[in-house]
Amino acid sequence: MDYSTIIYEKREGFVLIKLNRPDKLNALNTQMFNELDDAARRIELDESARALIITGAGDKAFAAGADIRELHESHARSGKLFSEHGSKVMARIEQLSIPVVAAINGFALGGGCELAMCCHIRFASAKAKMGQPEVNLGIIPGYGGTQRLTRLAGRAKAMELILSGNMIDAEEAKRIGLANAIFSHEELLDKTIEFVKLILFKGPLAVSAAVECILAADELSPAEGLAFESRKFGQTCGTEDFKEGTLAFLEKRKADFKAK
Ligand code: COA
Repeated sequence: MDYSTIIYEKREGFVLIKLNRPDKLNALNTQMFNELDDAARRIELDESARALIITGAGDKAFAAGADIRELHESHARSGKLFSEHGSKVMARIEQLSIPVVAAINGFALGGGCELAMCCHIRFASAKAKMGQPEVNLGIIPGYGGTQRLTRLAGRAKAMELILSGNMIDAEEAKRIGLANAIFSHEELLDKTIEFVKLILFKGPLAVSAAVECILAADELSPAEGLAFESRKFGQTCGTEDFKEGTLAFLEKRKADFKAK
């Protein structure tokens, strides 16, 4: 598939996706969702893609939400489908068993905030502004915002943000758990790439197993989660990488992981 609303860059060991409608503040339209879905499938199939970074093209926005012009045409039935389609794409991105990192380079509103929340880790530019302003339009978040924001920031904060539609700055986002760290606007992408490169030196099968276990914590009961973790732990103990990692420690050298 050729992409017209995203830029897909395969770099050494990771993929960088830029949401690319800067004149519309990277608003998420159907075409962009289709392209993100295709990109996520492509990453799933590419064993050499060991992390994903998502950011926005241009200087102002990660994504300022679903495309309001497109959304305006919705009615009750099509609105449900619109929400389900976007939700599925976001879940596909969230369920990738590699680290997915958002570099929030400006507005992350509505669907943009929801896309950021699908990412496993969020780094924000000091200029980032986040929020769920859907009530201003007479709708509610439709791509998981009511669910993921509640899990991330707690019920009262989710109520406050979603009911008021207020935007918060990067400092507040960090304080409530929406951003892991804040970097200067200019350094955001470089710092994000630096972080991802750090992970690329770790055992790739262990990284994936850890991602899967952490994601499972949202779905499983505590006992099921612990059992799932023990199974995954056992699997990692059966890998060549585990032998290499422990031997490298004992031999006081750097491990040379092969993802086997
Ligand atoms: N959908 C479609 N187009 C959007 C958009 C969206 N969610 N957000 C911004 N745009 C477009 C604007 O219509 C404008 O296009 P135009 O130049 O053709 O008129 C362009 O992006 C620039 O936006 P503009 O509003 O002029 O920038 P600003 O700096 O004055 O304001 C925002 C920035 C983010 C505060 C403002 O664009 C905004 O409130 N956007 C909508 C946010 C929202 O409600 N998201 C939830 C959607 S469900």
